[in-house]
Amino acid sequence: MADAPSNPLEQRLPGGFVPQDEVDRTEKRWLFIMLGMLAVMMLIVVVTSIVHALHPPSNVEPINPVTLHLEGEFVESNLGAALETDGVTVRLVAQQFSFVPNCVKVPAGTPIKFRLTSADVVHGFILVDRNVNTMVVPGFVSEVRTSFANPGEYRMPCDEFCGLGHQGMWARVVVVVKDQFPKLTPEQRTNCVSE
Ligand code: CUA
Repeated sequence: MADAPSNPLEQRLPGGFVPQDEVDRTEKRWLFIMLGMLAVMMLIVVVTSIVHALHPPSNVEPINPVTLHLEGEFVESNLGAALETDGVTVRLVAQQFSFVPNCVKVPAGTPIKFRLTSADVVHGFILVDRNVNTMVVPGFVSEVRTSFANPGEYRMPCDEFCGLGHQGMWARVVVVVKDQFPKLTPEQRTNCVSE
C-alpha cells in the first residue's frame, strides 16, 4: 500500500468516512477564520467612520413613493434648489432612468442639503470626486449634507444598477458664485444650458 496522504481528508478509511474528531477540528478552524474575517471587517467600519467620517446613511424618513407627484415635498414644482434658513436645500426625484431635475445650481460657500427619493427602484446618488454618496431607496428620503468651497461642475451618475437604462442615468450639479445664486429664478436654478 502507498504512503497515506498527510491530509486526513484524503485518507482512505474503512467505510469511507473521515473521523469525527478530524471533522470537528476542521470545522473549528474555519469557524475561527470566519470570526477573524468578521472582526477585521468590523474594525474597518469602525476605523473609517472615526478617522474618515464615512458613515452609513442613517436618515430613516419614510415617504409614500406612489403619491410623490401628487402631494408633499417632492411635487414637481418644489424640486430643485431652494434658499432656506439653514442654507440651500436641493430636492431631487430619481426614477428609471433620470433624475428630476437633471441639473441643479447651488451656491459656493453655503451649507447644501440634498434630499432625494425614488419613484420606482433603488438608485444611487454620488457626486464624482466628492465625499457624497448614498443609495436612493423607494419609500425613504435620503439626505446628505455638504458644501462647496469653489464654483465648479460635478457629474452625478446613478451608481446603483437600476435597469437597462442605468448607464444613461445621470445629472449635474453646477456650483455658482455665492452672490449669483439668489438672483437666479427657480427655472434658472435647474437649467444648465449656458445662457
Ligand atoms: Cu438609476 Cu442606476
